[in-house]
Amino acid sequence: MKYSRSLQLIQLGVLGALLMGVALAALSAEKKDPNKFNRLMTPISERNPPPAEDGIHDPESFGTELLQTPRASFSVLPRSPSGNYVNWTKALDDGAIEPRYHRDDADAGPVVMDLNIVREVKGSMPNVVYPHKQHTEWLDCSNCHPALFIPQKGANQISMAQILLGEACGACHGKVAFPVSECRRCHSQPKLEVSKTE
Ligand code: HEC
Ligand code: HEC
Ligand code: HEC
Repeated sequence: MKYSRSLQLIQLGVLGALLMGVALAALSAEKKDPNKFNRLMTPISERNPPPAEDGIHDPESFGTELLQTPRASFSVLPRSPSGNYVNWTKALDDGAIEPRYHRDDADAGPVVMDLNIVREVKGSMPNVVYPHKQHTEWLDCSNCHPALFIPQKGANQISMAQILLGEACGACHGKVAFPVSECRRCHSQPKLEVSKTE
Protein backbone atom coordinates (compact mmCIF):
# COMPACT_ATOMS: atom_id res chain seq x y z
CA MET A 1 0.00 0.00 0.00
CA LYS A 2 2.64 2.45 1.13
CA TYR A 3 4.87 1.34 -1.71
CA SER A 4 2.27 1.89 -4.48
CA ARG A 5 1.37 5.32 -3.11
CA SER A 6 4.95 6.51 -3.34
CA LEU A 7 5.03 5.05 -6.86
CA GLN A 8 1.99 7.17 -7.69
CA LEU A 9 3.74 10.21 -6.29
CA ILE A 10 6.78 9.48 -8.43
CA GLN A 11 4.52 9.12 -11.48
CA LEU A 12 2.87 12.44 -10.68
CA GLY A 13 6.31 13.97 -10.34
CA VAL A 14 7.39 12.63 -13.70
CA LEU A 15 4.19 13.92 -15.33
CA GLY A 16 4.75 17.33 -13.74
CA ALA A 17 8.32 17.47 -15.00
CA LEU A 18 7.15 16.51 -18.48
CA LEU A 19 4.49 19.21 -18.55
CA MET A 20 7.03 21.71 -17.27
CA GLY A 21 9.39 20.67 -20.07
CA VAL A 22 6.70 21.18 -22.70
CA ALA A 23 5.83 24.60 -21.27
CA LEU A 24 9.49 25.63 -21.19
CA ALA A 25 10.04 24.43 -24.77
CA ALA A 26 7.02 26.47 -25.91
CA LEU A 27 8.35 29.50 -24.06
CA SER A 28 11.82 29.27 -25.56
CA ALA A 29 10.33 28.74 -29.05
CA GLU A 30 8.41 31.97 -28.53
CA LYS A 31 11.56 33.72 -27.35
CA LYS A 32 13.42 32.52 -30.43
CA ASP A 33 10.77 33.90 -32.74
CA PRO A 34 9.01 36.77 -31.00
CA ASN A 35 7.86 38.36 -34.23
CA LYS A 36 6.85 35.59 -36.58
CA PHE A 37 5.04 37.73 -39.15
CA ASN A 38 8.06 39.95 -39.64
CA ARG A 39 10.73 37.70 -41.06
CA LEU A 40 13.36 40.46 -41.25
CA MET A 41 13.15 40.79 -37.50
CA THR A 42 14.51 37.29 -36.92
CA PRO A 43 17.70 37.08 -34.81
CA ILE A 44 20.84 38.16 -36.69
CA SER A 45 22.37 34.68 -36.60
CA GLU A 46 19.33 33.26 -38.45
CA ARG A 47 19.16 35.82 -41.24
CA ASN A 48 20.18 35.13 -44.84
CA PRO A 49 20.38 31.34 -44.31
CA PRO A 50 21.88 29.13 -47.03
CA PRO A 51 19.35 28.03 -49.70
CA ALA A 52 18.95 24.52 -48.26
CA GLU A 53 17.81 25.96 -44.91
CA ASP A 54 15.74 28.94 -46.02
CA GLY A 55 12.39 27.13 -46.19
CA ILE A 56 11.97 28.27 -49.80
CA HIS A 57 14.23 25.90 -51.74
CA ASP A 58 13.87 22.12 -51.71
CA PRO A 59 16.76 20.84 -49.54
CA GLU A 60 16.56 17.44 -51.30
CA SER A 61 17.09 18.93 -54.72
CA PHE A 62 20.52 18.64 -56.29
CA GLY A 63 20.15 22.16 -57.78
CA THR A 64 19.81 23.75 -54.34
CA GLU A 65 23.42 22.92 -53.56
CA LEU A 66 24.60 24.70 -56.68
CA LEU A 67 23.13 28.03 -55.60
CA GLN A 68 25.42 30.68 -54.20
CA THR A 69 24.56 31.46 -50.57
CA PRO A 70 23.09 34.94 -49.94
CA ARG A 71 25.90 35.67 -47.47
CA ALA A 72 28.41 35.32 -50.31
CA SER A 73 26.42 37.07 -53.06
CA PHE A 74 25.34 39.98 -50.81
CA SER A 75 28.86 40.61 -49.49
CA VAL A 76 29.78 42.82 -52.48
CA LEU A 77 26.61 44.98 -52.35
CA PRO A 78 26.14 48.31 -50.50
CA ARG A 79 25.26 47.61 -46.89
CA SER A 80 22.33 48.64 -44.73
CA PRO A 81 22.09 48.29 -40.95
CA SER A 82 19.19 45.81 -40.81
CA GLY A 83 16.91 43.50 -42.74
CA ASN A 84 19.09 41.39 -45.00
CA TYR A 85 21.86 44.02 -44.69
CA VAL A 86 21.74 45.16 -48.31
CA ASN A 87 20.72 48.67 -49.34
CA TRP A 88 18.85 47.55 -52.46
CA THR A 89 17.90 51.08 -53.47
CA LYS A 90 21.57 52.06 -53.54
CA ALA A 91 22.57 48.78 -55.19
CA LEU A 92 20.24 49.62 -58.07
CA ASP A 93 21.29 53.30 -58.24
CA ASP A 94 24.99 52.34 -58.29
CA GLY A 95 24.40 49.76 -61.02
CA ALA A 96 25.65 46.98 -58.73
CA ILE A 97 22.64 44.92 -59.77
CA GLU A 98 20.68 44.84 -63.01
CA PRO A 99 17.29 43.23 -62.41
CA ARG A 100 15.51 41.68 -65.36
CA TYR A 101 12.04 43.19 -65.68
CA HIS A 102 10.37 40.76 -68.02
CA ARG A 103 10.63 36.99 -68.18
CA ASP A 104 10.49 36.82 -71.97
CA ASP A 105 12.08 40.13 -72.90
CA ALA A 106 15.59 40.77 -71.60
CA ASP A 107 15.52 44.37 -72.89
CA ALA A 108 12.29 45.42 -71.17
CA GLY A 109 12.71 48.21 -68.61
CA PRO A 110 10.55 49.36 -65.70
CA VAL A 111 7.90 52.10 -66.03
CA VAL A 112 9.40 54.60 -63.61
CA MET A 113 7.29 57.43 -62.23
CA ASP A 114 9.02 60.21 -60.34
CA LEU A 115 6.43 61.58 -57.92
CA ASN A 116 6.99 62.16 -54.22
CA ILE A 117 4.09 62.15 -51.79
CA VAL A 118 4.77 63.90 -48.50
CA ARG A 119 2.77 62.71 -45.52
CA GLU A 120 2.87 65.17 -42.67
CA VAL A 121 3.42 63.55 -39.30
CA LYS A 122 2.08 65.07 -36.11
CA GLY A 123 4.61 65.41 -33.29
CA SER A 124 8.37 65.51 -33.50
CA MET A 125 9.07 62.78 -36.09
CA PRO A 126 10.16 64.16 -39.50
CA ASN A 127 7.52 63.92 -42.25
CA VAL A 128 7.31 60.81 -44.41
CA VAL A 129 8.33 61.17 -48.03
CA TYR A 130 6.90 58.38 -50.13
CA PRO A 131 8.91 58.22 -53.39
CA HIS A 132 7.20 56.70 -56.43
CA LYS A 133 10.57 56.61 -58.23
CA GLN A 134 12.31 54.11 -55.95
CA HIS A 135 9.18 51.94 -55.91
CA THR A 136 8.36 51.86 -59.62
CA GLU A 137 11.98 50.87 -60.33
CA TRP A 138 11.02 47.50 -58.80
CA LEU A 139 7.26 47.35 -58.80
CA ASP A 140 4.24 47.73 -61.02
CA CYS A 141 1.51 50.29 -60.28
CA SER A 142 -0.87 47.38 -59.73
CA ASN A 143 1.26 46.07 -56.85
CA CYS A 144 -0.14 48.97 -54.79
CA HIS A 145 -3.07 50.52 -56.69
CA PRO A 146 -5.88 50.21 -55.89
CA ALA A 147 -5.81 47.28 -53.41
CA LEU A 148 -3.22 48.70 -50.98
CA PHE A 149 -3.57 52.43 -51.65
CA ILE A 150 -6.20 54.50 -53.44
CA PRO A 151 -4.12 56.56 -55.94
CA GLN A 152 -5.01 59.94 -54.48
CA LYS A 153 -2.87 62.02 -52.14
CA GLY A 154 -4.22 61.89 -48.59
CA ALA A 155 -7.00 59.40 -49.42
CA ASN A 156 -5.44 56.65 -47.33
CA GLN A 157 -5.21 56.47 -43.57
CA ILE A 158 -1.74 55.18 -42.69
CA SER A 159 -0.34 54.70 -39.19
CA MET A 160 2.77 53.21 -37.68
CA ALA A 161 0.59 50.61 -35.90
CA GLN A 162 -0.74 49.34 -39.26
CA ILE A 163 2.77 49.23 -40.70
CA LEU A 164 4.04 47.18 -37.74
CA LEU A 165 1.14 44.78 -38.24
CA GLY A 166 2.15 44.23 -41.86
CA GLU A 167 -0.49 46.47 -43.44
CA ALA A 168 -0.08 49.50 -45.78
CA CYS A 169 3.67 50.16 -46.21
CA GLY A 170 4.21 47.14 -43.90
CA ALA A 171 2.86 44.82 -46.59
CA CYS A 172 6.42 45.01 -47.95
CA HIS A 173 8.60 46.89 -45.46
CA GLY A 174 9.82 44.33 -42.95
CA LYS A 175 9.05 41.50 -45.36
CA VAL A 176 10.64 42.10 -48.75
CA ALA A 177 11.86 45.70 -48.37
CA PHE A 178 13.92 47.44 -45.67
CA PRO A 179 12.30 47.03 -42.24
CA VAL A 180 10.60 49.54 -39.94
CA SER A 181 13.72 49.89 -37.80
CA GLU A 182 15.22 52.25 -40.42
CA CYS A 183 13.00 55.18 -39.41
CA ARG A 184 14.87 57.91 -41.26
CA ARG A 185 14.63 56.35 -44.69
CA CYS A 186 10.84 57.00 -44.58
CA HIS A 187 10.77 59.91 -42.12
CA SER A 188 13.22 61.85 -44.24
CA GLN A 189 11.79 65.37 -44.40
CA PRO A 190 12.71 67.50 -41.38
CA LYS A 191 9.95 69.75 -40.08
CA LEU A 192 10.36 73.42 -40.95
CA GLU A 193 12.33 74.92 -38.11
CA VAL A 194 10.33 77.16 -35.82
CA SER A 195 11.77 80.62 -36.48
CA LYS A 196 14.26 81.43 -33.77
CA THR A 197 13.91 84.59 -31.76
CA GLU A 198 17.06 86.54 -30.93
C1 HEC B 1 4.68 50.80 -53.47
C2 HEC B 1 3.34 51.27 -53.65
C3 HEC B 1 3.01 52.12 -54.86
C4 HEC B 1 3.30 51.89 -56.19
C5 HEC B 1 4.03 50.70 -56.79
C6 HEC B 1 2.72 52.96 -56.92
N1 HEC B 1 2.12 53.84 -56.07
FE1 HEC B 1 1.03 55.50 -56.59
N2 HEC B 1 0.79 55.97 -54.60
C7 HEC B 1 1.25 55.22 -53.54
C8 HEC B 1 0.97 55.93 -52.30
C9 HEC B 1 1.34 55.46 -50.89
C10 HEC B 1 0.31 57.14 -52.65
C11 HEC B 1 -0.18 58.22 -51.69
C12 HEC B 1 -1.58 57.94 -51.23
C13 HEC B 1 -2.01 58.87 -50.10
O1 HEC B 1 -1.38 59.91 -49.87
O2 HEC B 1 -2.99 58.52 -49.42
C14 HEC B 1 0.20 57.13 -54.11
C15 HEC B 1 -0.41 58.12 -54.87
C16 HEC B 1 -0.58 58.07 -56.23
C17 HEC B 1 -1.31 59.06 -57.01
C18 HEC B 1 -2.02 60.31 -56.45
C19 HEC B 1 -1.13 61.54 -56.58
C20 HEC B 1 -1.80 62.78 -56.06
O3 HEC B 1 -1.12 63.83 -56.06
O4 HEC B 1 -2.96 62.74 -55.65
C21 HEC B 1 -1.24 58.67 -58.32
C22 HEC B 1 -1.88 59.37 -59.52
C23 HEC B 1 -0.46 57.44 -58.37
N3 HEC B 1 -0.08 57.11 -57.09
C24 HEC B 1 -0.17 56.75 -59.54
C25 HEC B 1 0.71 55.67 -59.60
C26 HEC B 1 1.19 55.08 -60.85
C27 HEC B 1 0.77 55.54 -62.26
C28 HEC B 1 2.03 54.07 -60.51
C29 HEC B 1 2.85 53.18 -61.43
C30 HEC B 1 3.71 53.87 -62.40
C31 HEC B 1 2.07 54.03 -59.04
N4 HEC B 1 1.27 55.02 -58.55
C32 HEC B 1 2.79 53.09 -58.31
C33 HEC B 1 1.86 53.98 -53.62
C34 HEC B 1 2.28 53.37 -54.78
C1 HEC C 1 4.51 46.65 -52.68
C2 HEC C 1 5.65 46.76 -51.78
C3 HEC C 1 5.93 48.08 -51.09
C4 HEC C 1 5.04 48.91 -50.43
C5 HEC C 1 3.56 48.69 -50.20
C6 HEC C 1 5.81 50.04 -49.95
N1 HEC C 1 7.13 49.89 -50.30
FE1 HEC C 1 8.65 51.23 -49.96
N2 HEC C 1 9.93 50.05 -50.99
C7 HEC C 1 9.64 48.82 -51.52
C8 HEC C 1 10.79 48.30 -52.22
C9 HEC C 1 10.87 46.94 -52.91
C10 HEC C 1 11.81 49.26 -52.09
C11 HEC C 1 13.23 49.19 -52.65
C12 HEC C 1 14.01 48.10 -51.95
C13 HEC C 1 14.43 48.47 -50.56
O1 HEC C 1 14.89 49.62 -50.38
O2 HEC C 1 14.34 47.63 -49.65
C14 HEC C 1 11.23 50.37 -51.32
C15 HEC C 1 11.91 51.54 -51.02
C16 HEC C 1 11.37 52.57 -50.28
C17 HEC C 1 12.04 53.83 -50.02
C18 HEC C 1 13.38 54.26 -50.61
C19 HEC C 1 14.44 54.36 -49.58
C20 HEC C 1 15.73 54.90 -50.12
O3 HEC C 1 16.75 54.65 -49.48
O4 HEC C 1 15.71 55.60 -51.15
C21 HEC C 1 11.21 54.56 -49.19
C22 HEC C 1 11.46 55.94 -48.61
C23 HEC C 1 10.02 53.76 -48.96
N3 HEC C 1 10.14 52.57 -49.65
C24 HEC C 1 8.93 54.15 -48.20
C25 HEC C 1 7.67 53.55 -48.24
C26 HEC C 1 6.46 54.10 -47.62
C27 HEC C 1 6.41 55.36 -46.78
C28 HEC C 1 5.45 53.24 -47.93
C29 HEC C 1 3.98 53.37 -47.57
C30 HEC C 1 3.31 54.63 -47.91
C31 HEC C 1 6.00 52.17 -48.75
N4 HEC C 1 7.35 52.40 -48.92
C32 HEC C 1 5.28 51.10 -49.26
C33 HEC C 1 8.43 48.16 -51.46
C34 HEC C 1 7.24 48.70 -50.97
C1 HEC D 1 8.37 52.14 -44.35
C2 HEC D 1 8.31 53.53 -43.96
C3 HEC D 1 8.36 53.89 -42.49
C4 HEC D 1 9.33 53.56 -41.57
C5 HEC D 1 10.56 52.71 -41.79
C6 HEC D 1 8.93 54.18 -40.33
N1 HEC D 1 7.77 54.89 -40.50
FE1 HEC D 1 6.79 55.97 -39.05
N2 HEC D 1 5.30 56.39 -40.39
C7 HEC D 1 5.28 56.01 -41.70
C8 HEC D 1 4.02 56.45 -42.31
C9 HEC D 1 3.59 56.24 -43.76
C10 HEC D 1 3.29 57.11 -41.29
C11 HEC D 1 1.91 57.76 -41.41
C12 HEC D 1 2.06 59.23 -41.71
C13 HEC D 1 0.69 59.84 -41.87
O1 HEC D 1 0.09 60.23 -40.86
O2 HEC D 1 0.21 59.87 -43.00
C14 HEC D 1 4.14 57.06 -40.08
C15 HEC D 1 3.78 57.64 -38.87
C16 HEC D 1 4.59 57.71 -37.76
C17 HEC D 1 4.29 58.43 -36.53
C18 HEC D 1 3.01 59.22 -36.28
C19 HEC D 1 2.03 58.49 -35.40
C20 HEC D 1 1.63 57.14 -35.90
O3 HEC D 1 1.82 56.17 -35.12
O4 HEC D 1 1.18 56.97 -37.02
C21 HEC D 1 5.34 58.25 -35.68
C22 HEC D 1 5.50 58.78 -34.25
C23 HEC D 1 6.31 57.40 -36.37
N3 HEC D 1 5.84 57.09 -37.64
C24 HEC D 1 7.52 56.99 -35.83
C25 HEC D 1 8.41 56.10 -36.47
C26 HEC D 1 9.61 55.55 -35.85
C27 HEC D 1 10.10 55.91 -34.46
C28 HEC D 1 10.19 54.73 -36.76
C29 HEC D 1 11.43 53.84 -36.61
C30 HEC D 1 11.42 52.93 -35.49
C31 HEC D 1 9.36 54.76 -37.96
N4 HEC D 1 8.29 55.59 -37.74
C32 HEC D 1 9.65 54.06 -39.14
C33 HEC D 1 6.26 55.30 -42.39
C34 HEC D 1 7.39 54.74 -41.80
